[in-house]
Amino acid sequence: MSKRLLSALLLSACGGSGSPPGSAPDATVATHDAAPISPDASTALTRPPGVRLCYSATAEAHPATVMFRAVFAAGDRSMRAASIDALAAAVNALPEEEELQLFLGLDHLWRLAEPLPGEDAPLSQLGDATASRDHLKLAKMLCPTDARVDAWLGPVLVRFGRALSDQATIDEGLADLDAGIAAYPGFVLFSKLLVYADAARTAPEFQNALDAVTANITSCAQTPNDPACTNATVPHNLEGANVFLGDIYTKALRKADAQAVFAALPSSPGWSTWSFQAVQADRMQHLDARIAAYANTDPADDPVAAWSATNQCALCHTH
Ligand code: HEC
Repeated sequence: MSKRLLSALLLSACGGSGSPPGSAPDATVATHDAAPISPDASTALTRPPGVRLCYSATAEAHPATVMFRAVFAAGDRSMRAASIDALAAAVNALPEEEELQLFLGLDHLWRLAEPLPGEDAPLSQLGDATASRDHLKLAKMLCPTDARVDAWLGPVLVRFGRALSDQATIDEGLADLDAGIAAYPGFVLFSKLLVYADAARTAPEFQNALDAVTANITSCAQTPNDPACTNATVPHNLEGANVFLGDIYTKALRKADAQAVFAALPSSPGWSTWSFQAVQADRMQHLDARIAAYANTDPADDPVAAWSATNQCALCHTH
């Protein structure tokens, strides 16, 4: 698709000025969730000034969107390939829709992060990484005001660049992350954790992950009604985020902090309907062993943390 065509499409998709926060497209999205924390969707959907999604009624109601939302919310990986096919057909028919491009990119990202047996072969993963990158880039071109896209595109590019030892791609990803953080810190800071959490515990890069988490907590304290900081649109955002947080403290050997995070999880607002209560019990029970495994010099025995687990999306997104 030419750049010129895309910029024309962009104008039509975003209507020039886009929709204000809390307007119809966002509200539609909110109603998909069975039990938003706040009964008042307009309160629940406060985003930073200038951040706007470009979801249209057409894309929202499209069968491929409906299917993806259902399959993803159920964590049903057996239906994922079919949902990718449906979204791929949908973007061919309606290439100007941000939501379809974004969801196709994220469906591929889901497969990359939570592969079924066989889907983790290098060629399969390369295909998912490429498709994820390309459709996220299209979503970003179609809707530059959806700063959330940088939170997904940045890490995809950084990982791509690292895998290929391609510094320019790594730098592009880090620049996307920084731009996203400037526009939407409450959401995009979390992705900085994803980019640095795998660094060696004693490497300076690992400190970046810890710093991002601290900054994210500070940022969310200032925007308590943002969907990035609540369970308003993602049913277990808070519970899932706290597993990541506890795991990063565990890797940093901060036992008291990790314990406090895991011990507080049963008081989290979505706890009673969360499918991963056993993860919390496991972390409480094995905290000392997990810390010991990180503390020794052998990285080969490091425990599997949330950011590399095959439920890393489901922890937050599964109903
Ligand atoms: C820490 C919790 C958390 C994790 C882990 C997480 N997400 Fe999300 N996700 C969110 C939040 C919060 C949003 C923003 C929702 C919004 O903007 O209303 C979101 C948005 C999304 C959306 C867009 C939803 C919409 O209606 O616009 C998709 C799709 C998505 N995530 C897929 C994924 C995939 C795939 C993974 C794993 C690679 C993942 N997420 C991991 C919390 C999480």
